[in-house]
Amino acid sequence: MLDLPSSCGVTTHVYPLLGLLFLIAVASLSCYLAKVNMGASQCQFESGRWRIEPMSCCSHCVDAESLFTQRIAQRDLLRYRKYGPRFSTRLLLRVIGPPGTHAKTLLDIGGGIGAIPHELLASGLTSAVLVEASVAYLHVAEEEANRRGHRKRLICHHGDFVELASELAPADIVTLDRVICCYPDMETLVDASIAKAKHVYALVYPRERWITKIGAGLVNVFLRLRGGAFRTYIHSSKAVDAVIRRHGFRRSFYERTVLWQVVTYVRSDAP
Ligand SMILES: C[S@@+](CC[C@H](N)C(=O)[O-])C[C@H]1O[C@@H](n2cnc3c(N)ncnc32)[C@H](O)[C@@H]1O
Repeated sequence: MLDLPSSCGVTTHVYPLLGLLFLIAVASLSCYLAKVNMGASQCQFESGRWRIEPMSCCSHCVDAESLFTQRIAQRDLLRYRKYGPRFSTRLLLRVIGPPGTHAKTLLDIGGGIGAIPHELLASGLTSAVLVEASVAYLHVAEEEANRRGHRKRLICHHGDFVELASELAPADIVTLDRVICCYPDMETLVDASIAKAKHVYALVYPRERWITKIGAGLVNVFLRLRGGAFRTYIHSSKAVDAVIRRHGFRRSFYERTVLWQVVTYVRSDAP
């Protein structure tokens, strides 16, 4: 044993312990805040007790506007021009493959700058619809479509897909790339979007791991301090899969990265 003064002994033992306790507290708080419907909530005093209500999906989408700003959209565009689609998006595109005889149309929900439509329109897709809650992303997607010469084949809609769904036509391929984790009501979003898929339904969404839960929780702490309604969610993979299968689809591809799962579904009666 080292013969240190007692104050040194306290320092060497107490600081690491305090550090560990702090990390456990942050991790627990993060996991708690990452829980579905707890990330975005409103409190209401009703019949003598407090009730916690999930934040409405509408205010959530309105707040997407203030989060996915012009600056973020331009940054994403520069990154896309320099490096191409993100790794998980590239995986998704590889599975979908070049659009063939049965896949001529795409509906990309929450597609940001439109990497998926840009890539598929360049490889044989006839037309694509992009639905985005952020107008800044839509402007950048349109600008890029102009530059790539396929602006006339890309139709853009601004707003919450769930609210717009009844006005949108079905498409051969429906994609949601890192969108399910941005929406409070997973079941309604998946229900409404799979109903638009004629052949292929393709998703990128977070894996249910402690690392993604802690990450989402920390992001939600930041979002909560920022004051808006937007939150991130780690929805149950089992629940997502169940909603999709209810619509007569089966899983055709599954791959994982550290944070994301890339999954595609086709109709159960497809060869
Ligand atoms: C994390 S970003 C992903 C953007 C792009 N798909 C990507 O992977 O780079 C999530 C996007 O989904 C959009 N979004 C979330 N919920 C939406 C909804 N219900 N309708 C339309 N867009 C939505 C947000 O505006 C945001 O641009």
